[in-house]
Amino acid sequence: MLGHSYPPYRQRRSFQKHYYALFAILLFVVWQSGTLSRVRHVDSELDSTDRQGIILRTSPEQIDEQLSEQSGESAHIVNSYGHHTHPRPNQQDQVEHHGDFYSSPSPLPRDTPLANNAPLPPKDNAKAPGTPREEDTDEHDTDGIETIRGHNADSVEHAAKLTHPDDDDGHLSDFEHPTFQADSQERLRQNGVVDEILNADHPSKDNRDKSGDASDDETDVEEPAQANEDIQYPIQTLKAMTPWTETYTFPSWDECESVKEKADDLPDMLHVPFEQSVKDVMLEGWEDEWIAKARYTGPKLREPKIDFVYNWVNGSQQELRNTMHPYELNSSLNDPEGEWVASHGTNRYREWDELRYSMRSVEKYAGSFTNRIQILVNAFQNPSQDSHPVTMGKQRPLWLKENLDKVQVLSQEEFFGPEERKCLPTFDSLTIENQLYNTKSETDRMFALSDDMILGKPHSASDLYSPLFGPTMGFKDNAYNTLKPPTEEDAQRFGEKPFLIYTSWLLNRRFGARKRKGQVHFGHSLSRSIAKEAITSFPRPALRSAFQRFRGETGFQIYSWYVMFHYTMERHREALLWSYIMLRGDADDDGYLSWNERKKMLRELAEGMGNETPEQFRRRIYYRMGDHLEEAGLQPPKVNTDVLWTSLDGPIMIKDLDCDAFDTEDCLAPGFSLRSSDATARSPVFSSAAIFDRVARESPRCGDCLLKLILNRRRSGLGTLLPHPVKKPEQRATVIKALMKYQYTIVNPDSAFYMVTDAEQAEHVLLKPYLKHNKKAGQICLNDDVVTQDEQELEQLKKVMSALFEGLLPERSSFEM
Ligand SMILES: *[C@@H]1O[C@H](CO)[C@@H](O)[C@H](O)[C@H]1NC(C)=O
Ligand SMILES: *[C@@H]1O[C@H](CO)[C@@H](O)[C@H](O)[C@H]1NC(C)=O
Repeated sequence: MLGHSYPPYRQRRSFQKHYYALFAILLFVVWQSGTLSRVRHVDSELDSTDRQGIILRTSPEQIDEQLSEQSGESAHIVNSYGHHTHPRPNQQDQVEHHGDFYSSPSPLPRDTPLANNAPLPPKDNAKAPGTPREEDTDEHDTDGIETIRGHNADSVEHAAKLTHPDDDDGHLSDFEHPTFQADSQERLRQNGVVDEILNADHPSKDNRDKSGDASDDETDVEEPAQANEDIQYPIQTLKAMTPWTETYTFPSWDECESVKEKADDLPDMLHVPFEQSVKDVMLEGWEDEWIAKARYTGPKLREPKIDFVYNWVNGSQQELRNTMHPYELNSSLNDPEGEWVASHGTNRYREWDELRYSMRSVEKYAGSFTNRIQILVNAFQNPSQDSHPVTMGKQRPLWLKENLDKVQVLSQEEFFGPEERKCLPTFDSLTIENQLYNTKSETDRMFALSDDMILGKPHSASDLYSPLFGPTMGFKDNAYNTLKPPTEEDAQRFGEKPFLIYTSWLLNRRFGARKRKGQVHFGHSLSRSIAKEAITSFPRPALRSAFQRFRGETGFQIYSWYVMFHYTMERHREALLWSYIMLRGDADDDGYLSWNERKKMLRELAEGMGNETPEQFRRRIYYRMGDHLEEAGLQPPKVNTDVLWTSLDGPIMIKDLDCDAFDTEDCLAPGFSLRSSDATARSPVFSSAAIFDRVARESPRCGDCLLKLILNRRRSGLGTLLPHPVKKPEQRATVIKALMKYQYTIVNPDSAFYMVTDAEQAEHVLLKPYLKHNKKAGQICLNDDVVTQDEQELEQLKKVMSALFEGLLPERSSFEM
């Protein structure tokens, strides 16, 4: 099994104790201070809320601080912005020891230099031959922890400055101001003209804290349809599949060079407004109650259909090798001695006929909900016959029947996007995976796997995806939190690490810094629509990925599975915060959290904090996943029954997170809990966009605790974060759509991963347990990690593997001739 020891459920002290303690402190302060009572006289009708607001804060010092702010020194307020760094003694411990699913986020340090260009490829590639490999079996990687230790992890500090004075272009402002969705819509409407996209950032930079800005958000919210017409991404996606032709010729060197130039002009990231994201979501009517209350009252649902998508290459085919060779010679990985060329293919392209058995297992164990099987392959050049023009072929398993409805063999040329195809052919699986979303199908859902993965037990669709709980995702223990641009040294690291490190860096900049775990090595349950959004919202990294022909050419590539999984979870969280602050909190949609609006939020926070801890108070939906599915007429999971969390329990980031204290002034805005802070004039710090940005990205832990506490007002569902159903029906529908789209379930998958090294090992760890002792695993991955070149040994191993596959899956599938 892959490493999945999740921390045991941890008892926590009730919030109530805290509440009483602070109440006592408050009484003391009130008794001591004439200032506060003066305020309370002014706001006599708000008395109780005032008190709650202060109670939410942590320490007497802060209350003192608050009181001195009261004495009218506005300079002090400005000054205190971003300088509150209350030591939280337990916090560091938590990062290091609790092993929370999503450990406490730490902010980017102020002085983080942020290079605009992705790091350059290591020029002098000193990798040992064959070093870049698919798998990272280092399950107990502590990279993320090291990274955190190396930086000052104080998640309370806000004004994490992400830019560096040397950054001279505007690419970064995208992530500096993620809240200005009206801006990004504006930008996106400009037909992908990059310069305009970039320039459009600058005005928002200056306006950032002006509350007047918020009126943009108002139009944004009120006229979503109009504002979002004709959005074009800087990276175009494919509208329809490109027909296959034998007379195709590979793009020229110059065409691929033009992609490189284009990539350099693109921004690193952009924000897709939720109104845009949810355009492809249709509601059937039951979703609101489901999301708000975790109660299913809809009709019986149909089982979803899922595509199984394989990335496959037959490396033994001579035509393919001939086609590949000139590109190998040109690759930056090629060395004068030709060692890389000689060695890089040896085990990557050995085969044990895995695809045949993997497809047998899909038909046998997942046949009832398989929509299609798509096999993604390379095109190759047929040998030139004198005077005839060279024709092309596409790879195809020789045993596969022709004209199957259910199975499609797609060459890269058929599905790669308009720009990305200019650097074909590619022999790098990451490059192909980053284009998966361009495959076309009747269904949005796919399960992406490779041929060395087989199903070992009958599956329900809900083992992979269900309409109530979204896709299932599994994670390893190793987590990454890259706070600095990755270095050449990072690029040299083993296996998937460079890609994890690099993608962690991108995700940190887009969504705020936190540790993010690597995904389990098995098939990945994905939405084409989310995959597209995840990849294309990192335009430059995505396009840079498209010109990698061999893995490792540049040290860094956006890592498909990692970015897709984490993007899903982050967007779900972001949608909740957007909903709560921008839509629900800002009741009158003026972009400003007035005292009345703040008061309501404070009351809600106090209510959530007044209940028992969420671990005791909240109903655990993840224990009832099967029951809920059955209520909707769907099959419960059969293999992935160890469910650790569902997005209906809240964002995964709140799991095992300590929120005993929540400092409203630090986390939301200085003066948030006091009427007097903006009694005479609006204060820029109460711009809803500024507060949203703070909790969403600058101080991730603040956002996590805010969500955890507000959710704790009710026993189940996400309703406490949603806009009012009657007053704001359209906004609410948008939020529901977003929460449906980005829902997810975290499981401890029933999967077994093996690195196959030699015949004796294979006999011992595979043949005996699985065939003699009838061992079962839901999903099995058999990674070819054979080093020997000894023919006899290889023959023997092939025999063992054949016996294993035939023993597990003896019956032919309907796909085989
Ligand atoms: C290899 O590189 C040269 C330029 O350095 C280019 O002209 C040629 O077309 C390239 N070959 C292939 C197969 O891309
Ligand atoms: C891969 O290609 C080799 C050589 O053409 C062929 O013998 C083998 O059967 C192919 N494998 C599959 C699964 O088609």
